[in-house]
Amino acid sequence: MRSAFVSALVLPLLASAHGPRQHHGRADASSIVASAASSVVASSAASSVAASASVTGSGSVSGSTATSVAASTTQTLTFTLASTNPTAVPLSLIASGAPIQSTSALTTTWAAGAKPTVFAGAPGLPNAAALNPKDYPTLDKTPPLDSPEVQQWIQEVKNSGIDIPGFAPTNLGGCANNTAAAADASRCWWTCGGCTRQSDITTCPAKNTWGLTYDDGPSPYTPDLMAYLEAHDMRSTFFVVGSRAISRPAMLQDEYMMGNQIAVHTWSHPYMTTKTNEEIIAEFGWTKKIIKDALGVTPLYWRPPYGDIDDRVRAIGMAMNLIPILWTRISATQTFDTGDYDIAGGLTTSTQVLNNWDSIMNNSTKIDTGFIVLEHDLFQQTVDIAVGYILPEALAHQPALNITPVITCQNMPMSNAYVETNDNSTNPLPAPATSGNSSASGSASATGSAAGASKNGASGTAFVNTGLVSAAVAFAASAGALFL
Ligand SMILES: *[C@@H]1O[C@H](CO)[C@@H](O)[C@H](O)[C@H]1NC(C)=O
Ligand SMILES: *[C@@H]1O[C@H](CO)[C@@H](O)[C@H](O)[C@H]1NC(C)=O
Ligand SMILES: *[C@@H]1O[C@H](CO)[C@@H](O)[C@H](O)[C@H]1NC(C)=O
Ligand SMILES: *[C@@H]1O[C@H](CO)[C@@H](O)[C@H](O)[C@H]1NC(C)=O
Ligand SMILES: *[C@@H]1O[C@H](CO)[C@@H](O)[C@H](O)[C@H]1NC(C)=O
Repeated sequence: MRSAFVSALVLPLLASAHGPRQHHGRADASSIVASAASSVVASSAASSVAASASVTGSGSVSGSTATSVAASTTQTLTFTLASTNPTAVPLSLIASGAPIQSTSALTTTWAAGAKPTVFAGAPGLPNAAALNPKDYPTLDKTPPLDSPEVQQWIQEVKNSGIDIPGFAPTNLGGCANNTAAAADASRCWWTCGGCTRQSDITTCPAKNTWGLTYDDGPSPYTPDLMAYLEAHDMRSTFFVVGSRAISRPAMLQDEYMMGNQIAVHTWSHPYMTTKTNEEIIAEFGWTKKIIKDALGVTPLYWRPPYGDIDDRVRAIGMAMNLIPILWTRISATQTFDTGDYDIAGGLTTSTQVLNNWDSIMNNSTKIDTGFIVLEHDLFQQTVDIAVGYILPEALAHQPALNITPVITCQNMPMSNAYVETNDNSTNPLPAPATSGNSSASGSASATGSAAGASKNGASGTAFVNTGLVSAAVAFAASAGALFL
């Protein structure tokens, strides 16, 4: 049974910073923690955010960013909102240094053994209270490689038969700091040019369909989002950070039990292409493990932090049965990122985010498919703008939008989101790209299946995601050996 649960008023460790712009997120988010932590007001109700509170008064992120926020707060919306939530936090208060709201008391706890009703065949829930952070790696750091768990996952990846391209890890600093890698099309690095492979999910197939996603939680503000979704009978895909999941396993259970899709967003939210193969395995493995330990099921889908994926990272994901979900990108200037993450750090404004959202809506009419948008449930600001403005506006949209988790917009049952309940005949797990196991850089090409052929030529590793393409690949039995 569900029972009331008051989430602890504890700020998340925000080192899992995220943002479309390289360089900024991590440092800015950590300084927000430092300034916000000292100004938590434990007793104020969510509805009593002081209207008089100064937007910029406590915004001590840094001198320069605080200044840029102040300078840009005069921006106006370029469109008229069709609908807002009557209880929306005023837009002027959704800003860097916003007063800290108490968190919603609306999330629920679930008894061990409870089973989700939105799909059949799921095992009963584990006891969230029995999970001990001491049994997991340090929060917000790439887990050590010498644990028995990581060593086993490394071996499983070797045994998978998936060819891992031999590209060197990239440097931090994105395309500008990696000119050779950025120019190497065989790497298929999404960050630098938007290259995708057949395996990548970037849209919903049907027009006027929005595959709703929130990244980086569960956070203290997630219950506010959950309450809105529940009140409007909506579901999302949550890309959860492992470090957040072990911090709030009961909240993760509530997301799952309410019919949302749970997917992997790594343990410490790094730029995955900068990590070694073994570090990538550790990031994936521990996130899969905490989700399995909390929910009883293992996600089959993941989203790269910052969208930072190339063929090496793709291949390791595939070897660990993780299919990538990005967000819709029409062109370099038409990428469906609300920029909501940057409000808290003072790098953008809520007004700008709503304008971004409106231009995403406008631009979505240019494509024949539905779409997927980048949003976050990590910060108060990102949740406030979602439940106050973006979601109400989307619900009022004409023509009506069909808003669903990504798995649902792919025309698959929720059960296909997890290893244990996946229908292996309709959603076969990723197949090895080659019949051999050589690791020569860039030399792999799909051999078993034409459907796995890459869009960008023969080099690089191609993958088969038969949830999107109907290739008949007989590999389920061997892939099954990966999972214990
Ligand atoms: C790679 O292939 C060779 C020969 O096909 C085989 O002996 C070896 O065990 C394989 N290695 C792994 C890690 O699967
Ligand atoms: C560029 O890469 C080098 C080498 O990894 C690194 O030391 C440097 O910090 C990077 N620059 C930026 C701006 O990230
Ligand atoms: C929408 O399209 C316009 C025109 O190409 C572009 O300038 C704008 O950046 C796009 N916005 C988004 C969020 O994709
Ligand atoms: C979106 O389109 C509407 C109608 O054409 C227009 O009024 C609005 O300014 C556009 N929004 C943006 C952000 O371009
Ligand atoms: C699909 O395969 C996985 C891995 O072998 C297995 O754990 C799962 O039970 C299978 N799903 C079904 C519905 O049989």
